[in-house]
Amino acid sequence: MRTQVGIIGAGPAGLVLSHLLHLQGVESVVLENRSRQYCEERVRAGVLEQGTVDLLCETGVGERLKKEGLVHGGIELRFGGKGHRIDFRELTGGKTITIYGQSEVLKDLTNARLAAGGQIYFEVDDVSVHNFDGNEPKVLFTRNANPEELTCDFIAGCDGFHGICRPAVAKALTIYEREYPFGWLGILAEAPPSSEELIYAYHERGFALLSMRSPQLSRLYIQCAPDEDIQQWPDEKIWRELHKRLESTEGWKLIEGPVIQKGVSGMRSFVTEPMQYKNLFLAGDAAHIVPPTGAKGLNLAVADVRVLAQAITEFYKSGSRDQLNRYSEICLRRVWKVQRFSWWMTSMLHLFPDASAFDQKRQRAELDYVTSSRAAAESLAENYVGLPMA
Ligand code: PHB
Repeated sequence: MRTQVGIIGAGPAGLVLSHLLHLQGVESVVLENRSRQYCEERVRAGVLEQGTVDLLCETGVGERLKKEGLVHGGIELRFGGKGHRIDFRELTGGKTITIYGQSEVLKDLTNARLAAGGQIYFEVDDVSVHNFDGNEPKVLFTRNANPEELTCDFIAGCDGFHGICRPAVAKALTIYEREYPFGWLGILAEAPPSSEELIYAYHERGFALLSMRSPQLSRLYIQCAPDEDIQQWPDEKIWRELHKRLESTEGWKLIEGPVIQKGVSGMRSFVTEPMQYKNLFLAGDAAHIVPPTGAKGLNLAVADVRVLAQAITEFYKSGSRDQLNRYSEICLRRVWKVQRFSWWMTSMLHLFPDASAFDQKRQRAELDYVTSSRAAAESLAENYVGLPMA
């Protein structure tokens, strides 16, 4: 089998890339080792930047997003029992964010690709990448237990943090990494969101976040140990902790409901440089991980593949590799700024086990500053709604 771009991974990076290339007349094949159902049902991120929303709408996959997405004009930072709103619309000249689950984005993209005759192979096994330092890169895999071979011009490694593409070029890469001494315990609950907007809460018992997926579904998180045993957390205990950490002196109440999903995830910051080796390009979580506090993972993946799609299109139109050669440099400027923001939000809002009394006082001053200075709030808002595309 032959195509122009072999894409490993049918997550947001792989599917947006395949979609953008298709619109430019470039053919691709997407290989995914999980099932379609698994990809579309797994609960992941939920916040789309203005630029991500615009891209999906402008490229014809925003119909349901426009109908079902929840547009938010701000977030609340809560500490000392009081809420402080960061008004994105006012601070950024009208920009907003949209709550729409990653799983929904994937459904829309998968449907659009398949309707346009796009090739996505789910549940393939033993994927390996070869010859990407030459002109005939190859992807080997098995489908229905039969060995197959995909020859292409470029390989896009959109296969996530645990994927096979980054290890295949590890020798050419430098890794920058930081782990955090905590994780998040997250639940999805059949309860109407207790607030119209997201609440990021700083509390002496640890961070908590109130988010949502729809007018009937709440998504909530509490800071926990990085290796927290979910078995030790019956639903009642999670709710008790959420009540404490989200406490308010302003008459606000947390609405409970049946928990339909729960899990623990670790937190890390991770960047690989460069994001490219010869004809293999890394995008999304395969190239970088941000802690979730800035809600940036999916948006950064989309920003990567927007650059990559443009560079590949340019190559087929003009034969020039200039943009391809600059892929990494262009992406990494954004990646590092988003790393900075995600690290900053994480540091401001979490309880660090080794924090001194000085550190905690400074952390409270940071929250006080960001909620009382227009300059500081503007910086948060500008980053949260999404930095301009390069
Ligand atoms: C979510 O809704 O899952 C969510 C929202 C905001 C974050 C992280 C996760 O910062």
